[in-house]
Amino acid sequence: MYTLIDGKKTSAEIREEIRREVAEIRRQGGKAPHLAAILVGHDGASETYVAAKEKACREVGFDSTVIRLEEDVTQEELLDHVRHINEDPAVDGLIVQLPLPAHLDEQQVIETIRPEKDVDGFHPVNVGRMTIGLPAFISATPAGILELLRRYKVETGGKHCVVIGRSNIVGKPVSILLSRKEEPGNCTVTLCHSRTHDLTAFTRQADIIIAALGKARFLTGEMVKEGVTVIDVGITRVRSDKTRSGWKLYGDVDFETVAPKSRFITPVPGGVGPMTIVSLLRNTLLSAQKVIYP
Ligand code: GUN
Repeated sequence: MYTLIDGKKTSAEIREEIRREVAEIRRQGGKAPHLAAILVGHDGASETYVAAKEKACREVGFDSTVIRLEEDVTQEELLDHVRHINEDPAVDGLIVQLPLPAHLDEQQVIETIRPEKDVDGFHPVNVGRMTIGLPAFISATPAGILELLRRYKVETGGKHCVVIGRSNIVGKPVSILLSRKEEPGNCTVTLCHSRTHDLTAFTRQADIIIAALGKARFLTGEMVKEGVTVIDVGITRVRSDKTRSGWKLYGDVDFETVAPKSRFITPVPGGVGPMTIVSLLRNTLLSAQKVIYP
């Protein structure tokens, strides 16, 4: 019988912990942590994410600011906003919602954010510090995955972890984090991707699988061994005539066939997804408390 890793419940618990910490800071006369977001244009998914972040900030007692810029903003104007917030002592964390319109240089924008305020953990300084085990802002999804493993006491030391997908925001950082000499961590990590030959040969050996490739129901029961722990990072909308909305969300894992062979497994939705925003809140609190960069 498997244990369902409930990201919805865990994220609610963490939000409550953060809310209490903020209340205590305020009680002692300190200021509320402040997260600023820059949103360029009117991409539907980005609007939804930013609205969810604002709501989460309100719920835990953070201040939040959203700077909305027109679709045709120039690179220099956008960088000026970033530089302005970099210098604003009232703001602890800054995120620029991605993706940006095609005419803007995303990497230059990320590298303009001061690492001390880069609560998304996308700046190369934070990625580099994370890689060599220095205190760093760790990006939201990998941090959320680690927190789930920690809270569900999933044993990771000495285990073989197979990561499927090598993206900069999930696969690559999570493979580095799980190989670190820390708990959770100390895994032997294999990073698999679209060019991997005989992927099943790897997944069938895995004690832990992180599926982050973005293909609905890709990982099936015959690809895993008994007792595996499965973290499903995928989220794909598939047309369905069985739901009122006409859409159904699927992870990268075929839950029906994989769950019966699992020790721990995350559902989609309600697994990794809800953890990402609380990781961002946690990073903003750490920034306000000057924990990462004293
Ligand atoms: N777009 C999708 N996810 C994210 C995220 O975590 N941070 C930012 N800045 N943009 C995103």
